[in-house]
Amino acid sequence: MSRPAEATASRPRRGRKHLLALVGLPARGKTFTARKLAGYLAWLGYPTGVFNVGERRRAELGPGQQHEFFDPANRDAAELRRKLAEDVLDDALLWLRGEGRVAIYDATNTTRGRRDAIRARAAAEDRDLLFVEIVNREPEVIEANVRETKLSSPDYAGVDEATALRDFRARIAHYESVYETLGEDEGAWIRIVDRGRKVEIHEVWGWIPGRIVSFLTNLQVTRRPIWLTRHGQSAWNALGRIGGDSALSPQGREFARNLAAFVRAHFGPDSPLDVWTSTLRRTVGTALPLGIEPGQWKALDEIHAGICDGMTYAEIEAKLPAEFEARKRDKYGYRYPRGESYQDVVQRVDRVIIELERYRTPVLVIAHRAVLRALAGYFRQVPRAEVPFLPMPLHTLIQLTPTAYGCEEERVDLGPRVPE
Ligand code: F6P
Repeated sequence: MSRPAEATASRPRRGRKHLLALVGLPARGKTFTARKLAGYLAWLGYPTGVFNVGERRRAELGPGQQHEFFDPANRDAAELRRKLAEDVLDDALLWLRGEGRVAIYDATNTTRGRRDAIRARAAAEDRDLLFVEIVNREPEVIEANVRETKLSSPDYAGVDEATALRDFRARIAHYESVYETLGEDEGAWIRIVDRGRKVEIHEVWGWIPGRIVSFLTNLQVTRRPIWLTRHGQSAWNALGRIGGDSALSPQGREFARNLAAFVRAHFGPDSPLDVWTSTLRRTVGTALPLGIEPGQWKALDEIHAGICDGMTYAEIEAKLPAEFEARKRDKYGYRYPRGESYQDVVQRVDRVIIELERYRTPVLVIAHRAVLRALAGYFRQVPRAEVPFLPMPLHTLIQLTPTAYGCEEERVDLGPRVPE
């Protein structure tokens, strides 16, 4: 593929701001995609906002518009919808003028006219525009999406299911009657067909757009749990020393056996469960009694404490008080001399997140305190500053189940009790 002339101009790309506009019929998973992507980009460190036109319509006009409101032949309503869409686009662009790095404009944007208007606004404000079109032709997926997210929408409060379904299908038909898929002359876009069975990428370059492509091409909508646990207590944990590569303590080995018994009872012998560990002895040793060959990831190794590796927190405070204070001030951004920060950990576990999103079967991740905080912070969409403080005790199994618009968490204390 050849690069267009303007992309080769020596304009600094650093710090560019991105307007991402979704394209697609109702009930194709646009809002799910917008929220997941926003969570991912914010977790990576790019302030990202989602700007949803449906929510604005409900806020301004009240919920409960019936399908006639979405009929393109209904002139007055069409003008109202155009105005609402424009107002929400204004908000998205305003966000980019301030702290925002990425704005996700969650609307149908199914006509060329609508997209041309967006392009003109993005160009006027010198924003990089990327369209993400979501196409789905599988009736059972659309039906499931309607049932899971639309019937419970305030638009159908108090309406019986059959009437709501009929109305929503008529709403989709109105959009179908004017739908124009993205064309070759519409700049940068990604088209995701049938939940990623086919992905088309058109004129997409750059780091953030690259992360978006990688994320969206792997994102699955499967409701399957992810299990996270720290390794069993290590010899250094017992001494209060951070880092290192010590083996399990007797209590740590007991936890490994408890974990294996729990997994056997929970999953059964023919389960497709995958087990991932870091490359360190304490996680590999914890997986041993499971009898499942773990996949080892260097990216899951614990935060590297640099010159503090092997010290206790009290030793760091006494010998390196300035470091201790600096970490206390900004635990997320602080980087151990010759080591890592939480931010660094997030960057390196990015690939683990992408892989977890791709998986349709359950995965048990046996890793470390800081690394698991980084992973859980993504799934639970925790603000970055709070990530280093997420409770992550030893000998506790965490079950995360991503849902349509969030994530459920359950914790199982497997014992034995050991100090933090
Ligand atoms: O103490 C165990 C440990 O995994 C250390 O190896 C690591 O440095 C630390 O926890 C991370 O937790 P925190 O960021 O709270 O210091």
